[in-house]
Amino acid sequence: MQNLYADLETLLKEDASLVDEHGKLNKNVLITRAANLDEGLLARLISSDTIRAQFFTQVGDTLVFDKAKFQEFIANKAFLPDSYTAFRNKIGLTDRSGRFLSASEDVVLAWPYKDCVLEGGMTKEDVKRDEVFWNTTLAPDDIARVFEPKALTRFEHWDRNAVAQKKAKRADVIDPASDNLFIKGNNLLALHSLAEVYAGKVTVIYIDPPFNTGNDSFLYNDRFSRATWLTFMRNRLEVMKTLLTRDGSIFIHIDVNQSHYLKALCDEIFGQTNFVQEIIWAYGSPSGGRAGSAKPVNVHDYILHYARDYKARKQNRIYTPYSDQYIANWFRYEDEDGRRYRSRMRDDGTWGRQYLDESPGVPLTTVWSDIKQVYADPRAYRDDQAEHSELVKGFLGQKPERLIKRILDMASDEGDLVADFFSGTGTTASAAMKMKRRFITTEQIEGQIQLTRRRLFKTIRGAGAGISRDVEWTGGGSFVYLELAEANETFATRIRNADEDGTLAAVAADLREKGWWRYKVDQSLWNWDEWAALTFDERKQLLLDSLDANHLYVNYGDIDDADSGLSAEDIALTKAFYEAEA
Ligand SMILES: C[S@@+](CC[C@H](N)C(=O)[O-])C[C@H]1O[C@@H](n2cnc3c(N)ncnc32)[C@H](O)[C@@H]1O
Repeated sequence: MQNLYADLETLLKEDASLVDEHGKLNKNVLITRAANLDEGLLARLISSDTIRAQFFTQVGDTLVFDKAKFQEFIANKAFLPDSYTAFRNKIGLTDRSGRFLSASEDVVLAWPYKDCVLEGGMTKEDVKRDEVFWNTTLAPDDIARVFEPKALTRFEHWDRNAVAQKKAKRADVIDPASDNLFIKGNNLLALHSLAEVYAGKVTVIYIDPPFNTGNDSFLYNDRFSRATWLTFMRNRLEVMKTLLTRDGSIFIHIDVNQSHYLKALCDEIFGQTNFVQEIIWAYGSPSGGRAGSAKPVNVHDYILHYARDYKARKQNRIYTPYSDQYIANWFRYEDEDGRRYRSRMRDDGTWGRQYLDESPGVPLTTVWSDIKQVYADPRAYRDDQAEHSELVKGFLGQKPERLIKRILDMASDEGDLVADFFSGTGTTASAAMKMKRRFITTEQIEGQIQLTRRRLFKTIRGAGAGISRDVEWTGGGSFVYLELAEANETFATRIRNADEDGTLAAVAADLREKGWWRYKVDQSLWNWDEWAALTFDERKQLLLDSLDANHLYVNYGDIDDADSGLSAEDIALTKAFYEAEA
């Protein structure tokens, strides 16, 4: 037996991650790895004939690990006899692979509910509801259900003709390799659906999420704490990462309320080495009510830029025009033809001329103060200038197309796919269309959906607002409008329409079978006899109240169910979409 203890210790010590800074085997990490059936650990154990014979049983072609025996063996005091103290001293936070954070270079952010999934979505601003955190360990089934791709509906195709006639054509097929998509629905669910088709296909993601200031477009849930917001972002950013091409980049627009927390979160998700820059968008001037305080006036936001792979990223060189002052200071000379130039020393030490009309401009810096917010354009406030103003009335927080143009110029080329999962007024989609990029955008609030639609109609008509003049946009283009198909709206309608006991009981039975109950309803306490004893209206109301607002959508896997509420055409188009290649 003595040999086996020694053999095991020698074998395990070959794995540096199992050894602590004093060269001793770290029993705690070993215990965690064994409990998690860590692949690397099992492979190492199998590699030794004696150890394999001790802890594995051959069943047919398969080797079965006797986890209990192994755990008992390593917990025995005879194995690493002096390690008890080391183990006791070594209690602490570990990373995902069981390594102590104290032994790692990584700094990670921890917060309550970090290990949860927050669905965080609703379709109507006026309905506030309890947010549910699904714990990844405790509620794997619920999370799997949330993450399953969703059925699609509406399939409206809008192009110049349709916009002129104010009537969409029904899209008879969606080509993910060429169609622009505008999807209504909670972006977490939309992202997981899109990942089925667009994983590794999106060159640029720009997002401008709610900043969680308590005074922004997170209107639908002003109770979000920082922890909640971070969970909300983490769940979404993790999927967004999978959508990026190898040369792709993500740009996240944020302000000082969350920027520093977001940076730590993004380092963890995208990797510190893939951080490219923090851009400061200096959008404003110290005027208006904000200038009343003695504190310096905040006139900037941040845009965090991460690459999927830093070295492979697409990064086009950008120059900004010289200012008059710069030209006056540096391009001080004029030749006989009136061309301005500056004198510059060449590599060989001789002097030469750099002509202004041959110079590209000032290399782009991380401070962007030449792009003003849309609200700074006086045309925004004149109705007769509406066609030329970019401002989409009825929404605060709109970003200018010029900002998106700069990002797209920098990190994408014509034909690339661009995505924005927090559409708002559709700025990214509009700019992408004008710049001949393809786009996907998502939005969940009905008011903003209407604003994005109108904005895109205006773009298709060729209105001269935003970057139209800069890119000589005269109109055209198209997009397909889709909705994630709502599930329990169908149930709600069936309950409301039920006019006799039998129909109501049938809906109740279906609801029970599908499990679309609010998470707060404890089904073990639900008593159907007591329910049946209520008045008809009370029974209806109780069923409506028990519908789970968090499972709003039809899963693709349930698409053929009779109660999915989908038409045969929607079913066929949804299937074609998920089977297509982007
Ligand atoms: C700050 S705004 C974006 C503004 C946009 N950049 C523009 O220029 O108009 C954020 C948008 O994200 C939307 N949103 C927030 N949470 C969402 C979610 N879970 N799913 C889909 N959209 C969401 C909000 O309704 C809001 O319209």
